[in-house]
Formats: sequence, structure tokens, C-alpha cells
Amino acid sequence: MSEPAFLSSLACRCSDPPISWLMRLTLERPELISLAVGFTDDETLPVGEVGALVDELLRDDAGARIALQYGSTEGDPELRKLTLDYVCRQDGLAPGAALSPEDVVITNGSQQLLYLVSEVLCDPGDIVIIEDPTYFVYLGIVEAMGICAAPVPLESDGLSLDGLKQTLQRLKDTGDLRRLKLLNLVTYSQNPTGRTMSFEKKRETLAIVRHYEAAAGHPLFILEDAAYRDLRFEGPDTPSFKSLDPANERVVYANTYSKPFSSGVRLGYGVLPPTLMQHVLRAKGNQDFGSPNFNQRLLALALRTGVYERHLPAMQAGYRRRRDLMRAALERHFPRRVRWQEVRGGMYYWPELPPQTDTSREGPIFRAALDAGVLYVPGDLCFSDSPLRPKPKHCMRLSFGGAPSAQIEEGIRRLGAVMKTVGL
Ligand SMILES: Cc1ncc(COP(=O)(O)O)c(C=O)c1O
Repeated sequence: MSEPAFLSSLACRCSDPPISWLMRLTLERPELISLAVGFTDDETLPVGEVGALVDELLRDDAGARIALQYGSTEGDPELRKLTLDYVCRQDGLAPGAALSPEDVVITNGSQQLLYLVSEVLCDPGDIVIIEDPTYFVYLGIVEAMGICAAPVPLESDGLSLDGLKQTLQRLKDTGDLRRLKLLNLVTYSQNPTGRTMSFEKKRETLAIVRHYEAAAGHPLFILEDAAYRDLRFEGPDTPSFKSLDPANERVVYANTYSKPFSSGVRLGYGVLPPTLMQHVLRAKGNQDFGSPNFNQRLLALALRTGVYERHLPAMQAGYRRRRDLMRAALERHFPRRVRWQEVRGGMYYWPELPPQTDTSREGPIFRAALDAGVLYVPGDLCFSDSPLRPKPKHCMRLSFGGAPSAQIEEGIRRLGAVMKTVGL
């Protein structure tokens, strides 16, 4: 269907984002067991803690007036400082060495930061390297901005370094390296696969990318999307790409308070090189000139009083319980030919069915699953178009974050039964 002539080229490039129809289906058909949406775990939301924080925030008149007023584009000064302290603690860095609160921006979820960074770096036709598969909502940004995605295969411990070298070399050989602007990598309990990129791979990735900068003729940035870092419930944490960028030159570290604290409060943050910060702030100034101040003061209070960090273990234990429920159900109900990798954080499993199977929205499994009252994210939505490979259609993303935990086993049982009806 052709778009009306009055629309902008950006509007014409945009298709209906899958996140919108998936959310719509979930909300319109409450009887569905939704293993699709990445809603945060309802059962461990910090209801009591936030109630007490709101009371405290409004108790003092001057503080309440600040919270109920507009703030600044870059964000609340105390929240920026406490956020930097938190990131530095996680990464074993000394705040003040190279990083200062000036390098931190508070955004409307980390989603806004992904958008702003892509917007200030990319014109239509520019190239972004992404993981194959990747966070499908980022693919919507890619589509809207007319960016060309260069997908690099994902291995169990993160991006394939051979794949990365081949992609960079191919772009160099075809004279396209000048159009490459950034790598967007979801490095912790990745959405959709649950995989975490190893620290060794991060170090090598930076070295490889640096090697190609001369041919590109400009800096090549890493946008590290760490949205699920705080949702790790097993194993040690991995230092970020930012810890490998001591001069704060190449890495944009994007993280969020949505997933670990409250997606209703919906605040994200970024630690950015100064060369990018100025431009991101101009773009954010044009969009909203600042994220909700009330939410920022609330989060600052949660961090200052230790409420945020005290909440983390309960939240992580909640996700571990849900993971255990889904793992047991997968083992019990899924056909043997379906494979999945174990996950130690985040909220997703990524089962791979035999290669000829079709899990797409148009395919028999998705339709039969809907008839059986269960919803999943078709895996093909997480792959960009590429002339170098057909789009894989045999995977599915299953979330253990959103559905009531009592429904997880039943959802997986129904999906397993659907798979058996198509001969798996
Ligand atoms: C990988 C990834 N990045 C970023 C986001 C954005 O989250 P928010 O905008 O709530 O911070 C999400 C949300 O699901 C995500 O899965």
C-alpha cells in the first residue's frame, strides 16, 4: 500500500512496530498467556518502597516543589552523580578519573538514548553493525532512520569476532566503511538470546574496530546497551565496554532503571564521550528538554538511601524463580529437537527449532499458538534484512518476565503441544 504524499520520508519508511501489535494483542486478549512481552516481573515491583519514597519526597515543601517542577535537559544533578557512582562501582572505576557527572545524561528509558545516539550519528544510508539476532525494537529505529544494518553472527559468548572482521573488511573493500558509524551491541543477557558478551571479546572488539578507524576516516563508536545488566541472577558480573575506554572517547554506555526497578518510572541513562554528549543534548532538548523531574528525584532518593541496591537481590531472586519455572517446563514439554541455551540473567529464552520450521507471524505455529491461547515473539522479527543470508524463521523469543508465574508452565505446555501437531 503506498503512503499518502503528505507524509515525511521517515514516516513512509516506518512500518507498524512489532512491539505495538504484540502489546496490543496482549492487552486486548487478557485470556492469552503472553510469553511475548518483556514486561518486568510484576510480583517483585518495589511497591512498598516507592510508596515510602514518595512520602519522603513530598514531606519537605522545598524538595516537593523541585520534584513537581520542570528540570534540565541533561537530568537531575544528584541523579547524574549517583548514577555515575553506581556505574563506576560496578566497573571498578574511580569516578573523577576520566568520568564526571557531566558525562551522564538521564533519558526517558534507555530506548530514548538508543534513538538519540543513532539520530545524531546517522543519516539515511549510513551503516550500523548489529548482532544477528538483535533487540527487535532497535530494528524499528534502523528502519525509521533509513540506516543500513550490517548483521554480525552472535555466538554463545557474544559477537563473532571472525564475523566482525569479515564485515569490516567487506565494508572496506567495497568503499562503504565511511558510512559505518557505530556498533550497537546488547552485551548482558541479550534480548532476545539471553547471551552475555565476554570481557575478552569486548577487549578484542574494541581493538578490531580501532584498526578500521583510519580507513573509515572518523571515530567508530560502540553503543553498549546494558539494559539487563542488573537482572543477572547467577554468575559474576562482566565489566562493561566503558571500563575499556578510560579516556571516554568511543563507548556510549546505555543502561536503564526500568528493568531492575520500575518500568512505570521509566528512566534510563547514558555515559557518553563529550564529543557526542553535546549533540545528544541538543537533540533531546528538541524532543522533550528533560525527562520527568518527579521520577528523577524519586530515583535519586532511592539511590541515596540505598533502597535501589537493597531491592536488587529480591528482584533478581524473582527472575531466577521464573527462569527455573520456564526451564523445567521447557524440559518437560518441548520436543527433543528444539534446543535452547541456558540463561543466567535477563528474562528470555531463545529456543531454536529445526531449521525448516516456520515460527513467523504468518506461519502455522504462531497461528496455532494463538488458537491455543499463547503468544510468543516470532524469532524472524529479531533479524534484520540482509542480502548475505535468508532471514532465519525457526526461532522464538520466550519471556519469563511478563506472565504471572503460575501461567508459565501452562504456556510452555500449550506451545509444546502445538509443536507436536506440526510434527516436531
Ligand atoms: C535490549 C533492550 N534495550 C533497551 C530497552 C529499553 O528499555 P527502557 O526504555 O525501558 O529502558 C529494552 C526494553 O525492553 C531492551 O530489551
